[in-house]
Amino acid sequence: MSQVHICEVGPRDGLQNAKHLMSTDAKKAWISALAAAGLREIEVGSFVPPRLIPAMADTAEVVRHAIGIPSLKVVALAPNLKGFQRAVEAGAHKVTFPVSASRAHSESNVRMTPEQMVDEVRKCAELGGAEIEGAVSTAFGCTMQGSVPEDDVVRIAAALAQFCDAVALADTVGYANPAQVRRIFSRVRKEIGSKLEGAHFHNTRGLGLANALAAYEEGVRNFDSSMGGLGGCPFAPGASGNVITEDLVFMFEAMGVRTGIELQRLFKAREVLVNAIPDEPVYGHTPLAGLPKGFRQQ
Ligand code: COA
Ligand code: ZN
Repeated sequence: MSQVHICEVGPRDGLQNAKHLMSTDAKKAWISALAAAGLREIEVGSFVPPRLIPAMADTAEVVRHAIGIPSLKVVALAPNLKGFQRAVEAGAHKVTFPVSASRAHSESNVRMTPEQMVDEVRKCAELGGAEIEGAVSTAFGCTMQGSVPEDDVVRIAAALAQFCDAVALADTVGYANPAQVRRIFSRVRKEIGSKLEGAHFHNTRGLGLANALAAYEEGVRNFDSSMGGLGGCPFAPGASGNVITEDLVFMFEAMGVRTGIELQRLFKAREVLVNAIPDEPVYGHTPLAGLPKGFRQQ
C-alpha cells in the first residue's frame, strides 16, 4: 500500500511568521497533540539569534520536551554552525539548513552567498551529531530576485548531496506550479537519486496541494506542511503560509495513500493551536467542512 511521510513544520515555519507569540507551554502541548495524532516528524523550532526571531527564543526547551515523546523525530532549523551546535546540544535528531538558490534571498536570509552557505553546512556535516537535511530554498522562484535558474537549483542540490543525509526542494515564497514541480524534481532526481527526499510548498497562490500532488506523482514521498496553513519566511517579502497539514492528510487518505495520521485527532491538535493563539488567522478547508459522510480511514 502507498504511503507518505509528513513533517509538521508549524511550530517553526508557522510560528516564526505569526503575529502572536505562543507560550512555551502551549508549544509543548501543541507538539504533544500533533504527535498524538500520528505525526512522526515535527520541526519544532529554529536556532537563530533570538533578537532576529523572538518567537524562536525558547527552541532549546521545546526540543527537550519533544525528544521525550516516543517515536517522534525532532527537527530544528539552523542557519549556521552556531545554530547547529545549539541544536545538537539540545538533542535535536535532525537539523535542516535553508540554502537558497537565489543569491538575493540567501544574503537577506542568512547573510551568506549560496556557496558560503553550502560550505557552512559542510562544516556541520563534518562535525556530526544529528541527521542533516539541506533544503534548497527559493527553488521555484524568489520575490527578491524573480526567476531562479533551474541550473542553480540542480547545482546547489548536487553540492549538498555530497555530505547531507537528505536534500529537499522548497518553494519558500509560493511561486511553484505543478508542471515546474515535476520538471525540477525530475531534473534533481536524475542528478542526486534517492538523496532527494522532501518537498516543502507554500500555499501563497492556492497551489500548495496541486504542487504536492505533482511531486507525489514524480515519486516524492516526504512532505512538509503546516497546521492551519501558518507560515512564511520573515526574510522573504510576500511569503505566506505553508501547504495545510489537515488538507494534505485528507487528500492523501482520500486517495488511499496512508499518512499514519488520524484526522479526528489532528482536528483536536488544531484546537490546541487555535486556543493558544486565538487571534492568529488559520486556514484549511477540511476542518471547516468536516469529513465526507461515510469517510473512513483505513
Ligand atoms: N544562534 C544564536 N546566536 C547566534 C547564532 C545562532 N544560530 N548565530 C550567530 N549568533 C550570534 C553571534 O554569536 C553574534 O553574537 P554577539 O553579537 O553577541 O557576538 C551575533 O549573533 C551576530 O553573529 P553573526 O555571525 O555576525 O550573524 P549575523 O548577524 O551575520 O546573522 C545569521 C547571520 C545566519 C545568524 C542570521 O542571518 C539568521 O539567523 N538567519 C536565519 C533567518 C531565519 O531563520 N529565516 C527563516 C528560516 S528560512
Ligand atoms: Zn517555508
